[in-house]
Amino acid sequence: MDVLDELQDLREDALRELEAAGDEDDIERVRVRYLGREGSVTLILRGIGELPTEQRADVGRLGNRVKAEIESAIESARSRLAAESRRRKLREDAVDVTSPGRRHFYGRRHPITQAMDEVLGILVGMGYAVATGPEVETDWYNFTGLNIPPDHPARDMQDSFYVTDNLVLRTQTSPVQLRHMEKVAPKLPVRIVGPGRVFRRGDDDASHSPVFHQCEALLVDEGVTFGQLRGTLLDFARRLLGEHVQVRFRPSYFPFTEPSAEVDISCTVCGGTGCSTCSQTGFLEIGGAGMVHPLVLENGGYDPEQVSGFAFGMGVDRMAMLKWSIPDIRYLYQNDVRFLQQL
Ligand code: DAH
Repeated sequence: MDVLDELQDLREDALRELEAAGDEDDIERVRVRYLGREGSVTLILRGIGELPTEQRADVGRLGNRVKAEIESAIESARSRLAAESRRRKLREDAVDVTSPGRRHFYGRRHPITQAMDEVLGILVGMGYAVATGPEVETDWYNFTGLNIPPDHPARDMQDSFYVTDNLVLRTQTSPVQLRHMEKVAPKLPVRIVGPGRVFRRGDDDASHSPVFHQCEALLVDEGVTFGQLRGTLLDFARRLLGEHVQVRFRPSYFPFTEPSAEVDISCTVCGGTGCSTCSQTGFLEIGGAGMVHPLVLENGGYDPEQVSGFAFGMGVDRMAMLKWSIPDIRYLYQNDVRFLQQL
C-alpha cells in the first residue's frame, strides 16, 4: 500500500479510537500507538529518508499534518472527558431544592413525669423532702409492717405480682413511709414525699393500669393533727389546680391510718355541678389519707404516745388524665408519639 494511503488510514483509525476513548488510559494508549517513540506515524516520519526522493516531500507534509491532527484530537478527547466527568459530578452532587427540609424532633417529658414533677414541685415547696424505695418490695414493708395482716384482701395473689412468697412488686408507695421512718428515727420532724411506680395485677381497664404511679406524703411530729392534714391537702390542691378548688374528705378505711379518709377534689371539668367525668357527683377522687396508725409509727421506730403523723397517697396517672382530659389510662403506656406529642 502507498505510504500516503497508509497515513490516511492511520489518521482515521487514530481519530476513531480517540472518539471512543472512555478515560485517560485509553487516550494514552492511542498516543503511544501512533505518536509514541515506536508509534506507527512516528515510524513513517522517521523512515522518510529511506523513501524515493520524489515521495519524501508529500509523505513529510502529510505525516506532519496527521501527527498534528492526532495531537489536537488527543487534546479534544481530553477536554471531552473532563467535561463529561464535571457533568457527572454535578449530577451526582445535585441538591434537590424542591425536596422538603429535614424536621427536627424535640423530645419532651412524658405526661406522667410532667404530672409527677408538678406534684413534687408543690410538696417540695411546702418543705417536704423526696424519698424513694424499691419497686420490688418485701412483704414486711408493703404489707405486714403497714398493718396489713396476711389475710387482708389486698394481699390476695390476684391483686399482687409476687416474685417469691416474701417479695412482691410493691402495690403502693406507702412502704416508703416505713422505710424512711426506720432510717431517720427518732429524728423529728419527718416530712417526705415518696414518688414512684406501683403494680397491681387485677387492674386493667380504661381507668386502671397494672402499672401506675403514686406519690406518697408523710409528716410525723409532736402534735400533728387531722386539721393540719386537711389544710395541707386543701393548700396542695389549690396550688395544683387553682384557688377555686374544693377538697372533700369521705370516711374510709386503710389499715395503716386511723382515722382514714378518701380525698376528693371538686370536679375540674364541671366545677362541681356534675358531669360525666365525675359521674354527676361534682367530685373526683385523687387519693387516700389519714392519721398514721400507732402500730405503723411504732414499726417505724417512733413512740405513738409522743408523736403523731398524717399521710396521704395520690394517683399521679389520674392527675395527668385530669390535666389533659385523657379518656383512657392505657394511652399513657402505649408510647404512641401521635398521642404523646400533643401533651
Ligand atoms: N396506699 C393507699 C393506696 O394505694 C393510698 C393511701 C391511703 C396512702 C392512705 C396513704 C394513706 O398514705 O394515708 O390505696
